[in-house]
Amino acid sequence: MTEESLSDRKIVLGITGSIAAYKACELLRDLKKAGAQVRTVLTRNARRFVGETALECLSGNKVHTDMFDSPCQSLPDHVFLSEWAEVILVAPATANIIGKAAAGIADDLLSSIILAGMPKVAFAPAMHSAMFHSPVVRHNIDKLRGMGCEFIGPQYGPLASGEAGEGRLAEIGLILEKVHALLSQSGERRHSLEQEAEL
Ligand SMILES: Cc1cc2nc3c(=O)[nH]c(=O)nc-3n(C[C@H](O)[C@H](O)[C@H](O)COP(=O)(O)O)c2cc1C
Repeated sequence: MTEESLSDRKIVLGITGSIAAYKACELLRDLKKAGAQVRTVLTRNARRFVGETALECLSGNKVHTDMFDSPCQSLPDHVFLSEWAEVILVAPATANIIGKAAAGIADDLLSSIILAGMPKVAFAPAMHSAMFHSPVVRHNIDKLRGMGCEFIGPQYGPLASGEAGEGRLAEIGLILEKVHALLSQSGERRHSLEQEAEL
């Protein structure tokens, strides 16, 4: 990844209520350093782990938290942001948001953006390994993969509990590389579709 390698790419960064949410500040800083335009969406539970002020300063944009902040605009935030985003990156992604996305639940701003923006969604899960290996989480991940969503990690390593296991948020560098690859693929696909349309 080089500086400006995500120049002007439009990314919605969804942050959920994981202990790894503090790492989203570094991720946001690096996305911006790579030139991306980033709109940040926090779930209610994520707000217990990471502060809006830091995210607002790092992104240079208002942080979106509430579904009903701008209900009377021509496009409500969940529709506007799902259309605006080239990729919706959920990092860290809790077992809860993965389950809601797999079930089509849209009961807050982030889950509504994900539902409307499918399948251009990349999840970077972070959770205790017992949660990650739960059959229901595995089923939800397989289901979302089958719908075209991407998963980045998690990785094996030390967890917040002090144990080691699979469930650690992927390294920030790996998340950036994957986002870059996804955006390059979607750019190539768009280009070939445009060429087909011209023929
Ligand atoms: C200290 C603490 C750490 C947590 N860490 C995680 C985590 O890493 N991954 C996870 O899936 N849930 C974690 N949870 C549980 C979530 O916060 C909970 O499932 C919540 O409903 C997620 O809401 P959200 O997905 O809307 O943000 C944690 C809870 C607490 C109290």
